[in-house]
Amino acid sequence: MCGIVGYIGRRDAAPLLLEGLQRLEYRGYDSAGIALGAQSGKGGKGAKSGALRTAKAVGRVRDLEARLPKRFAGTTGIAHSRWATHGAPNDENAHPHLDGEGKVAVVHNGIIDNASELRAKLLADGVEFRSETDTEVLAHLIGRDPSETLEEKVRGALRMIDGTYGIAVLHAGFPDRIVAARNGSPVVLGIGEKEMFVSSDVAALVSHTRQVVTLDDGEMATLKADDYRTYTTEGSRTSASPTTVEWEVESYDMGGHDTYMHKEISEQADAVDRVLRGRIDDRFSTVHLGGLNLDAREARAVRRVKILGCGSAYHAGQIGAQMIEELARVPADAEPASEFRYRNAVVDPDTLYIAVSQSGETYDTLAAVQELKRKGARVLGVVNVVGSAIARETDGGVYVHAGPEVCVVSTKCFTNTAVAFALLALHLGRIRDLSVADGKRIIAGLRRLPEQIAGILRDEERIAELAGEYANAKSMMFVGRVRGFPVAREASLKLKEVSYVHAEAYPASELKHGPLALIEPAVPTVAVVPDDDLLEKNRATLEEIKARSGRILAVAHREQEKADHTIVVPKNEDELDPVLMGIPLQLLAYHSALALGRDIDKPRNLAKSVTVE
Ligand code: AGP
Repeated sequence: MCGIVGYIGRRDAAPLLLEGLQRLEYRGYDSAGIALGAQSGKGGKGAKSGALRTAKAVGRVRDLEARLPKRFAGTTGIAHSRWATHGAPNDENAHPHLDGEGKVAVVHNGIIDNASELRAKLLADGVEFRSETDTEVLAHLIGRDPSETLEEKVRGALRMIDGTYGIAVLHAGFPDRIVAARNGSPVVLGIGEKEMFVSSDVAALVSHTRQVVTLDDGEMATLKADDYRTYTTEGSRTSASPTTVEWEVESYDMGGHDTYMHKEISEQADAVDRVLRGRIDDRFSTVHLGGLNLDAREARAVRRVKILGCGSAYHAGQIGAQMIEELARVPADAEPASEFRYRNAVVDPDTLYIAVSQSGETYDTLAAVQELKRKGARVLGVVNVVGSAIARETDGGVYVHAGPEVCVVSTKCFTNTAVAFALLALHLGRIRDLSVADGKRIIAGLRRLPEQIAGILRDEERIAELAGEYANAKSMMFVGRVRGFPVAREASLKLKEVSYVHAEAYPASELKHGPLALIEPAVPTVAVVPDDDLLEKNRATLEEIKARSGRILAVAHREQEKADHTIVVPKNEDELDPVLMGIPLQLLAYHSALALGRDIDKPRNLAKSVTVE
């Protein structure tokens, strides 16, 4: 999604803003731009209210840097990396957008739903537009608002728009401040020493400060060099106190790897260690989940569990639903949040809803949570980013502690989310009828995971060779049964999104009901074949595929003679095997993309956090 960065203080703003945009490059974008306030006077103090200065460029941040005018100094500024929604990626559509007199600059993440009717009114009023974007409408509305203060001008303009926004605004007549506002798209303030930052992602702030204030929907902020204040879009003060970001700035670095994806795949043993840390209770063969806010009595009253998420978060939710059914014996299922939010679902008071999200900002998932809360449902969050919108909107939950996941393609967070669900399933199970012996069995399995993951990662070279064998397939089929099916789905998504090879996942039992027609040597199948009670059924599927000269790559606990190649992974407990069986398929996707020369950390058309619908 679009990235927003703002700075006001004593230092030269442009280098800080460019560095912030570079920290956000992983989110995916196609153009970038910067605006500086009136000439420097520290933090705009005493500055003449001169004109704003802007520079924009299609392409990467380095292209913008090359475009900056020689003398481009100032201690107040805002910047933006754009993931095109309204209007093609070009210089005119790049943010910041100015009003007609060039005295207001706006950077915006989100979508203004009524932009076209507002644009029509402004055009009828003689306003000239320079871009096709919805954001430029907002710049004109602010510039034309007659209110006395910048805060009032922004509030007046926001009252006229429908839609989502995370914005930062500069005004030449108010050189000592930046005004920010949030509704549906993340905005976080960085509180420094006589300098303030604003961004759409904490990644742009942590190298300067770890004291942050996350705005809520409907909240605004005024940032001055030595002060900030927050208030609602209605104008009443709010008291948002800073929290400390737990992630070190180093964790955003690539750590000697060629790509974030490779780094994040490689650190999964440590990441899983973190999600387990301090949560296992050997005394009662269960787990402690501090922030759940669901006591034993409430947990026992739960009659079903509905898990919601998008993309990989949805697939991790499917694994979680399976675990909850198996360990807690509660009916559970997962559904794409992007579907759930639109189908006017029957919200059941005895159902526990769980929203899954790495970023905690995915708009479809956040909207589903807000819809559920509006209908009085209890909603938990299984989230990675502490203090994110979904984490704050839900009644409690489990942080997955994967550390910052920078690559657009989710890997370590997917795995940690699956383990977080194993912890939740064990917790619910031991409140209900799961025996001490089974509790001990699962805990022993959880403790084996980090070392087993490390063992799988040591097999990377062979997996890379196999990726070379299959990378040029015209399409790939991924199959699995029950526990194996979400693993197949996630592996299919990984391959698609990072290598652009078409792939689809199917329940293995469904192949013979149609998709088998696709099987031929040019369409290989990846089969997830765990050593569980469905082993013979899965082997029969391999026979079906082989009989149609399909090539097979199996992920299994032992060699599969019907497969052309088998990646053997260590056996854990049946319920936990899905955590391990997906990891070699992350490496398969990674090395397929490498073999095909893809831009691995920034796959085309994708963004790390989809904060628009
Ligand atoms: C994962 O590889 C994808 N990039 C994407 O499906 C992602 O999982 C999805 O957009 C949900 O994101 P979230 O976990 O931040 O909500």
